[in-house]
Amino acid sequence: MSEKIIIDCDPGQDDAVALFLALSSPDELEILGITTVAGNVPLKLTERNARIICDIADSKKTQVFAGCSRPMIVDLMTAENVHGKTGIDGIDIFKPMTLLKELHAVDFIVETLKDAKTDSITLVPTGPLTNIALAIIKDPSILNSIKQIVLMGGAMREAGNLSASAEFNMRVDPHAAKVVFECGLPIIVMSLDVTHKVLTSRERVGEIESIGNSVSTATANMLKFFARYDSEKYGIDGAPLHDPCTIAWLLNQDLFSGKECNVRIETESPLTLGHTSVDFWGVEGNIPNATWIQDVDDDGFYDLLINRLRRFY
Ligand code: BDR
Ligand code: CA
Repeated sequence: MSEKIIIDCDPGQDDAVALFLALSSPDELEILGITTVAGNVPLKLTERNARIICDIADSKKTQVFAGCSRPMIVDLMTAENVHGKTGIDGIDIFKPMTLLKELHAVDFIVETLKDAKTDSITLVPTGPLTNIALAIIKDPSILNSIKQIVLMGGAMREAGNLSASAEFNMRVDPHAAKVVFECGLPIIVMSLDVTHKVLTSRERVGEIESIGNSVSTATANMLKFFARYDSEKYGIDGAPLHDPCTIAWLLNQDLFSGKECNVRIETESPLTLGHTSVDFWGVEGNIPNATWIQDVDDDGFYDLLINRLRRFY
């Protein structure tokens, strides 16, 4: 039976690849909707980008919703320096045929979960957690229907990528992250500790490009742009392919390994706002609230991605 999922994202080239991976896997994943949030670029662009990605994947019937245009409390910080002005630089921008639904993303999440069976829907957030936190605050009864939250965010062994100590999605909306990490549901965390092991080397992008369909070509073009910033910053061949780790975990958990830990989010200190405090060795004695993924079979990950991209025309 396929897993029912809602993908909450801020495309972003790596969010876009996560969407392609999910859209290529209808036997395993039923996408109930794609919800968008302000993050890598403002909301107007993330919702449009999600619809462009659905168009390219020929999935124009996918429901796309726009959500929150700013974090709960702090000012929005965007990442055009990484993703380019459009958020998905590397491909041509066009007016998508995939329609934007009128319903607000938070209301879509609440209405979908409200009447769903217990533990029946997985949330997959790959951007700041604003929409998810507000849905939980708006109607806490929805927690009953959520099976798990598989998210990209946080850093422990790796340093922060937006501030010295915080990863982008956590730093952009730390208060939302706190709500989510305290919600009591199983949370699977794809942090920088693991995503920095999934590099878009030139060889891998070349292999994707050689597939030659419209989705693989768009993926290769986006990843070539995406790699510029991180290659220079970290002095590596390629960039960490963060967000698709969430979908890859849903498709094949054997590729990943991690540990159950207690994770708390810093919301007070201006210096370390959005820091994920991970009690990896259980020294504080708090009950684990998340599975912290730290290792991946990166060749297996790219085999999966490349094989799924071959499914498009
Ligand atoms: C995360 O931040 C964004 O720039 C990426 O899309 C990813 O979700 C990585 O820190
Ligand atoms: Ca993202």
